[in-house]
Amino acid sequence: MYENNNGVNKSVINWYPGHMAKTKKLIKEKYKLIDIVYEIIDARIPYSSKIIDIDELLQDKPRILIMNKSDLCDLKETLKWQSYYEKQGYNVLLVNLNHGNDYQKIITKTYEIMTEKLNNRKQKGLTSQEIRALVIGIPNVGKSTLINKMAGKKVANIGNKPGVTTSLSWLKTKSNILILDTPGILYPKIKTPEIGLNLASMGSIKEEILPLDEVAIHILNKLNSYYPDILKEEYNLEKLDEDAEIVYNHIGHKIGALISGGEIDYEKVSKKIINDIKSEKIKNITFDRKDD
Ligand code: G4P
Repeated sequence: MYENNNGVNKSVINWYPGHMAKTKKLIKEKYKLIDIVYEIIDARIPYSSKIIDIDELLQDKPRILIMNKSDLCDLKETLKWQSYYEKQGYNVLLVNLNHGNDYQKIITKTYEIMTEKLNNRKQKGLTSQEIRALVIGIPNVGKSTLINKMAGKKVANIGNKPGVTTSLSWLKTKSNILILDTPGILYPKIKTPEIGLNLASMGSIKEEILPLDEVAIHILNKLNSYYPDILKEEYNLEKLDEDAEIVYNHIGHKIGALISGGEIDYEKVSKKIINDIKSEKIKNITFDRKDD
């Protein structure tokens, strides 16, 4: 609906925090030791949150694609993405890592994938049945949540193993899996404004990077196209007016975002819309669409 993406284009393309190089270095350093990679994406944006150019780096490492935050996604749409990635050969798990034991599915899958390798090790006379896992993903997808869950509340730091550089350590988990305490933080190449706005909507890009109003309007547009019931329920709007000002005035009055003289506080309206997703008031949404 509102097509002005000029500001977004400029700010997004110039955005590169330089951490990607650090993560690539981490993977290269640990490469030989890593048995399996847990790649986490956000189930609400299964396309926008997936890093494509990491494949070369990970080469033939077994991988589990973890679609996290299943409790917040639109299951019908996200399941289409799950089968799409499965068809591409990924081991995919749809989970809610904030939910009790959902992370156990990852452990089960890990053993399923690693059985052959573990048997080979045994045949070669190697006694160690330990599996070393690395967690990767863009910001805010649940990397720390997974590490903490797997390591349990009392993290048993088993220190550095021979051949492991000093600052990083492998955390012991309740299973035979050792997990690297530092996740690999990936930063997406934001190829289109749509991807940037999706990432910002789900809190994976820092708020300062994109204009707040562009992100908020993006969210409203998505609700208008895919989830008109939520638009009605949350903002009492049947559908979006062509004129963004009218929409902002309406929401501003509804939430009492007024400045002196009865003017609408537009920034407050934008922040409220963005925060409605962050606070999980707005859920059951998937912004990336996979054609049937
Ligand atoms: P990161 O390391 O990849 O950056 O992500 P992190 O684990 O810090 O998780 C980011 C936020 O997402 C956290 O909320 C976390 O609780 C939440 N989260 C992780 N997995 C799930 C999930 O499956 N479902 C839901 N609904 N939320 C999930 P936060 O508000 O930033 O922190 P906190 O309140 O949990 O401390």
